Amino acid sequence: MNPFSLITCIITILLFLVCSLVCVAEQSELICSHQPIVALPGDDVILPCYLDPPISASSETVVWTRPGLDPKYIHVHQDGQFIYQTQNPFYNNRTRLFVDELQNGNVSMKIFRVKISDAGKYFCFLRSMLKEASIQLTVGKSDFLKMMNYTFLFVLYILPLIICKSHIYFPFLYQVPVRALY
Ligand SMILES: *[C@@H]1O[C@H](CO)[C@@H](O)[C@H](O)[C@H]1NC(C)=O
Ligand SMILES: *[C@@H]1O[C@H](CO)[C@@H](O)[C@H](O)[C@H]1NC(C)=O
Repeated sequence: MNPFSLITCIITILLFLVCSLVCVAEQSELICSHQPIVALPGDDVILPCYLDPPISASSETVVWTRPGLDPKYIHVHQDGQFIYQTQNPFYNNRTRLFVDELQNGNVSMKIFRVKISDAGKYFCFLRSMLKEASIQLTVGKSDFLKMMNYTFLFVLYILPLIICKSHIYFPFLYQVPVRALY
């Protein structure tokens, strides 16, 4: 085999390998749950996002962020580790990626002890694959807060109505026969 055709052959094989890697990455979609994730304050919650068909995201830079957040990063995973320096302090010690799951293309993020202010739209970016997807987190009110709200509504609107009604109702009843006399 002459050296020229050997080099051509190696280049062809390399090109083929690079292309197949890129093509596989391009076929895979980053999918986050389309349904909003619902949690109560204090809950731990998982925001599910994964590559489908599954390809490894182990060597990826995985970025979780939210629009309007300053500093803007919630969780950055780069070179196989969590980059805590860039994390918004509001999320300190409250986030986690499933590092063992990255090789299956699972880039879901867990948030511990959800707060009401955590509610909103979250974005997951895979930097070198140029992929992004979003997911909605809804934080409901606890039953206790709901009950307090109903009590508040009752005291504010229903109770005065009942009291007023009883005041208006009886004089009105009393007046009818009086008027009827004339
Ligand atoms: C997070 O955990 C570290 C070490 O466990 C602690 O020093 C730090 O105060 C914690 N940060 C918050 C915001 O709780
Ligand atoms: C991703 O990992 C989490 C935590 O282990 C798991 O709950 C979830 O089902 C996984 N998602 C997929 C698509 O495998």
